[in-house]
Amino acid sequence: MYAAHPPSRLRCATRIALPLALFLAGLPLASARPQANTSPRFHINSKRLQSTLEKLSEFGKNPEGGVTRLGFSETELAAREYVITLMKQADLEIHVDPVGNIFGSRPGTGKLPILLFGSHIDSVLHGGNFDGDLGSLGAIEVIHALNEQNAKTRHPLEVVIWTNEEGNHFGLTTLGSGVAAGQLGPEILDRKDDQGLTLADWLRRYGQDPAHLADARIQPGTLAAFVELHIEQGPNLEENKIPIGVVQGIVGLKRWMCVAFGFANHAGTTPMNRRKDALAAASKEVLAVREAVRAEPGRQVGTVGFVKVEPGAVNVIPGRAQFPVELRDLDPAVIDRMWQHLQERFKQIDNEENVETTCTPLDDAEPAAADPAVKSAIYDAAKSLNLPTMDLPSGAVQDAQKIAKIAPMGMIFVPSHDGISHSPKEFTSWSDAANGVEVLYRTILLLDNQLNPN
Ligand code: GLV
Ligand code: MN
Ligand code: MN
Repeated sequence: MYAAHPPSRLRCATRIALPLALFLAGLPLASARPQANTSPRFHINSKRLQSTLEKLSEFGKNPEGGVTRLGFSETELAAREYVITLMKQADLEIHVDPVGNIFGSRPGTGKLPILLFGSHIDSVLHGGNFDGDLGSLGAIEVIHALNEQNAKTRHPLEVVIWTNEEGNHFGLTTLGSGVAAGQLGPEILDRKDDQGLTLADWLRRYGQDPAHLADARIQPGTLAAFVELHIEQGPNLEENKIPIGVVQGIVGLKRWMCVAFGFANHAGTTPMNRRKDALAAASKEVLAVREAVRAEPGRQVGTVGFVKVEPGAVNVIPGRAQFPVELRDLDPAVIDRMWQHLQERFKQIDNEENVETTCTPLDDAEPAAADPAVKSAIYDAAKSLNLPTMDLPSGAVQDAQKIAKIAPMGMIFVPSHDGISHSPKEFTSWSDAANGVEVLYRTILLLDNQLNPN
C-alpha cells in the first residue's frame, strides 16, 4: 500500500538549478547573511520552533498535557493573538479575512500568484500539541529562516492559519478553508452551538462582519500552490523509520447527526415488551456502523463519536438518543454504499425496538489528490537533506483538501509517536519536527523556482 523511497531512488535532482542547490545545501549565496542556526545544514532554527510551540501549548492546556482549544472559543482567540504577534515578529503583514482565517504576507520580486503555506491552531476536545500547531508555527519559522538568509522569492509568500479546522464546534470540519475555497457560504451563519450562539455571533466576537463572509473566498488563480506540513497522526512513518511522508491524497468524509426517538417512561413499572428505549436502539445502531464498515475489505473507517441520552436519569427509560455517524474513504462511492446499507439497517433496528431514527447530513468533505509538481518538490527537498520519504494517504481530513479545489496542493507528513493523535499523548520528536520544517522551507524555495505562472 505504501511506497518508501530511500534517498538514492529519489528523482528529479537535476531539476534543481545550481544556485538554488547550493542554497538548499546550506551554502550561502552571494547575498545571504551568515547563518544563525543550530545546525549548519539547516536553515530553520529548531530551538526557536520548539520554544514557540511550547508557548502555544499553554493556550488551553489541560491537566493531561495536551490542549482543548476549540475553534471559536476564548482560548483560541487568545492563542490567535499570540500567533499574530509571532507573525509580526517575522515581518509578515497581517490580514484576517471575514471567516477569521489569518494571513501573513511577504512580498515577492515578481508579479506572480501567491505561494501559500500553513495549517490550523484549533484543537479537538482534549487534543494534543502538534496537530495543526506544527504546520502553523513551522510556516512562521520558514519565514524567519528566509529573512535570516536574506532570501528573496519570485512569488509573494503567505502564511495562513485556517479557522476551525477540527470543526468540533459547529460540526463543520475545515470551516475556514471551506469558505475560502467557496465550498461553504452564508448558509452556515445561522448554525447554533450547544450554548445557542450562532456562527455569526462568534464571527462578530472574532471582530468580523458575517455579512461579508463571501469576501473570504479566494478567487481561482490567486494561489500558485498550497503546502501544508502536518503530523502523520498514524503509525506508518514511525513503524517504518521513515522521517518524511509525502501525501498522495486525502480521504473524503460524510457525517450525519442521527436521533433515535423513543418514549421516556418509568423504569420500574413499564414492562419490557412495552418499551420504546431510544438508547437500546442507538446502541444497536452504533454497532451496525462498525459492522457496515467492516463488511468489505479496504481502508474505509466509520465512527460514532458520542451518544447524548435524554432525559439521562437512572430510573427513566431513555426517550431520546442523539449520535453522529462519520464515514471516511478515498472513494466517495464506498462511503455512499456504506451509508445506503446503514439506512436499511437502522430501519430494521427501529422496527425491532419500536423507535424512530432520523438522520440529517452534517458535513461532507470530498477526497482530494495531491498535485504532482508539489509532490515532486517535496521529494526533492527531502532528498537534498538525505531524508528518505514514504508515500501515504491522509486518513485525517485537512484544510489542504478544501484548497485543492482552487490551487495545486501538497502535504508533508512527519512521524507521530505510536501513531497517536487527537489525544494529549500526541507527540512528535523535536528532531522529526525540525526535519519537517526544513523540508517545508526547501519545498517552498523549489516551488518558487520551478512553478510556471501558467
Ligand atoms: C481532523 O483532524 C479530522 O480528521 O477529523
Ligand atoms: Mn490537523
Ligand atoms: Mn485534527
